[in-house]
Amino acid sequence: MTSSGVRHVTSINDLTNREIERVFEVADNYLDSLGDPVHKHRIAESTNAASGRILASLFYEPSTRTRLSFESAMLRLGGQIVTSADPATSSVAKGESLADTVRVVSNYSDIIVLRHPRDGAARLAAEYATVPIINGGDGAHEHPTQTLCDIFTLRRENKKLRDLNVAVSGDLRGSRTIHSFVYALARFGANIMMMPAKGMELPHHVDQRLREEFNCRMVPREQYEHENAAVDALYVTPEEPHQLSLIPNVDPEVVKLRKKVDVFYVTRFQKERWAEAKGDYPKIDSKFLKEPKYADTSVLHPLPRVGELDTALDSDSRAVYFRQASYGVPVRMALIDLLTRRADGLARYDTGFGEPPRALYDRPNDVGMRCTNDNCIVHDPLEKHYTRNKFWLLPGGADKQRLRCIYCEADSEASMAGQAKKHEFHAAGDEEVTDDTVFFRDENDARAAGYRDRRKKRA
Ligand code: NCD
Repeated sequence: MTSSGVRHVTSINDLTNREIERVFEVADNYLDSLGDPVHKHRIAESTNAASGRILASLFYEPSTRTRLSFESAMLRLGGQIVTSADPATSSVAKGESLADTVRVVSNYSDIIVLRHPRDGAARLAAEYATVPIINGGDGAHEHPTQTLCDIFTLRRENKKLRDLNVAVSGDLRGSRTIHSFVYALARFGANIMMMPAKGMELPHHVDQRLREEFNCRMVPREQYEHENAAVDALYVTPEEPHQLSLIPNVDPEVVKLRKKVDVFYVTRFQKERWAEAKGDYPKIDSKFLKEPKYADTSVLHPLPRVGELDTALDSDSRAVYFRQASYGVPVRMALIDLLTRRADGLARYDTGFGEPPRALYDRPNDVGMRCTNDNCIVHDPLEKHYTRNKFWLLPGGADKQRLRCIYCEADSEASMAGQAKKHEFHAAGDEEVTDDTVFFRDENDARAAGYRDRRKKRA
């Protein structure tokens, strides 16, 4: 995302495939200078690529790997760090908004890494910061730099993403790491096997985006359940559009793909994102992985693990999660380097994967439709004066208007549209959207806002 000429990484989709590859090329060099984690006897060398620059880490949620690897990365680049990792000791305890905080911290640093419990916090921060914001995890929304580490790991394991069979397991709803990861997998052409814990399927809007924006197709269950009953949904990304038509029939490629799992990505139950405890969480151990389809599987986990991944697997050659965590430093060195370079950095590399062209609906915070995701940053009382009801208008939806929140990217539907000047409402979809349009979730919301039902008046 680019605002006022500053490049931010709030989502994995803020980077093009080519840019991701560029980050990896630079990371390869840094990894060489650090020493491969497998041969740790090498003494790491530091560089001066970020000499004189300051990274600020603003962490409103607990973190070990993300914060420390970012800080280590900046120090290895010859830069310096300032940290606010405990909300109780920063001005948020006095009631300061995130928007004001990043405005101020922009003057103290050249780049900011932010972690926050609210979905969409990174996008809000990007609207107010004057230096690049890197999203270090915002609620259940995304964790793009974890995905960079995950994909870099697969690359180092010589696993080509195109047609790779990747199973993702556990809390697919609450895990922000999963959301960024599946977008990247789809964009690089991997096949994704969803293995959610019970009741923890992918959020609706993530599933929609995989299909609508990244051309994923669902393989009918009968085509894979014989070999892979545990897979809840199988998404494939066709190389060529004409292959789409093959998928509903029994496709020899699909038969091949369902038999082998190249990568198994495990996640913990995100207890901080759920109101109640859940039972029945899958536990991955050598017994689970003994089937032939897992013989060459790389097992990944963003960590921390809290019981869902057996420690006995640590000495198994398929376990790559500690290597995956170690790549956090070279990958983040590369990202910081490319985002803070004056020339030849990411700012000049913007090849525009970006958002598909869509209309923006933008109304004040107290006018009309609000984001229906309760954990969205727009519902944070501290940010009330800094957020607006901003949505991308999505096509489709027949008699409803589909809206995607620009902060948390969750989808909402408006069934009524009002005309602000006349204070009248009608069914959404009846008329074109203009600057005068105000959307409402339903009739009750429109009436509560003082709008009259135009359809009744005419009747
Ligand atoms: C992840 C996170 O914070 O989302 N941790 C990390 O950064 N490696 C995963 C998790 O907490 O489960």
